Amino acid sequence: MCETLLDVRGLCHSFPLGAGRYLRAVDGVSFRIRKGEIFGLVGESGSGKSTVARCVMNILRPQAGSILYRGVDVCDPAQFRANRRMLQTERQIIFQDSSSSLDQRMKVADIIAEPLAVNHIVPPRGSLRAEAAFQLRYVGMDPAYLDRYPPELSGGQRQRVAIARALTMEPSLLVADEPIAALDVSIQAQIINLFRHLQAEHGFTFLFIAHDLAVVRYLCDRVGVLYRGKLVEMAPTKELFDRPLHPYTKALLSAIPIPDPRRERARTRFHFDEAAFDRTGGFVQVSPEHFVLGGKEAEP
Ligand SMILES: Nc1ncnc2c1ncn2[C@@H]1O[C@H](COP(=O)(O)OP(=O)(O)OP(=O)(O)O)[C@@H](O)[C@H]1O
Ligand SMILES: [Mg+2]
Repeated sequence: MCETLLDVRGLCHSFPLGAGRYLRAVDGVSFRIRKGEIFGLVGESGSGKSTVARCVMNILRPQAGSILYRGVDVCDPAQFRANRRMLQTERQIIFQDSSSSLDQRMKVADIIAEPLAVNHIVPPRGSLRAEAAFQLRYVGMDPAYLDRYPPELSGGQRQRVAIARALTMEPSLLVADEPIAALDVSIQAQIINLFRHLQAEHGFTFLFIAHDLAVVRYLCDRVGVLYRGKLVEMAPTKELFDRPLHPYTKALLSAIPIPDPRRERARTRFHFDEAAFDRTGGFVQVSPEHFVLGGKEAEP
């Protein structure tokens, strides 16, 4: 469990806004994900979560920092080239709208098996169709759907097909960028349970990006909280929910409704003063695995 699979160090990425101005979307973000771990990244819209995910997947090239996958610096062109096949098969991403990006004219069987065909990988289960059937069953769908087309499926089924497609490459790291946000609550629970199963039974490692803190609490081993491109706090999930230290984390957690009406009425909400946000401090370690962005407002 202790081997580091992904090591993100000092990641910075800015987007050009024109007229020589830039938007700092990600600002010095560092975290590690161990093999077999589910690491959650939370933060409000625009905090930089997808930018981190896209850098990790080599979709965006960061301006500064490094991203080591199994010790290989994925941002170094020579190292990337030398390990291209490993990097492209072992890391897979699932987006919020993966299902809508499926080719509407392709059968489910062909969609799922396509990554194997494109990468000239011999199907481990004999044929591309057998492989697609296996993966479909794996995500909880009947192989009878193999000959269907995406428009004939529900949103949840389409997302499962997208996940099955990512799984055909037998990835070690799954980057899931709000993979359930567009689904019904009941389907969300099924997909979340599928992720748990993939981790527990098959040792998958996840970078799980979410808005929904209840899901993060249920699913993730450790959590990092992003605010305006800065990681403000990082801790094991229970520790973060029991003992949030950064004022932004406190505000974020205090906004979660409590199902019990009596406790809900008594819930104290913290307000975070954006103007007082100090992004200059470094990460302070308050316990072996609990880090908080330093500066005046942090009260370790
Ligand atoms: N291609 C782009 N060009 C310019 N700015 C961008 C681009 N992509 C993202 N941004 C900006 O960078 C910041 C971070 O965006 P990002 O998509 O990483 O946020 P996010 O945390 O994933 O938000 P959400 O929860 O809404 O998905 C935002 O302010 C966004 O407007
Ligand atoms: Mg996003």
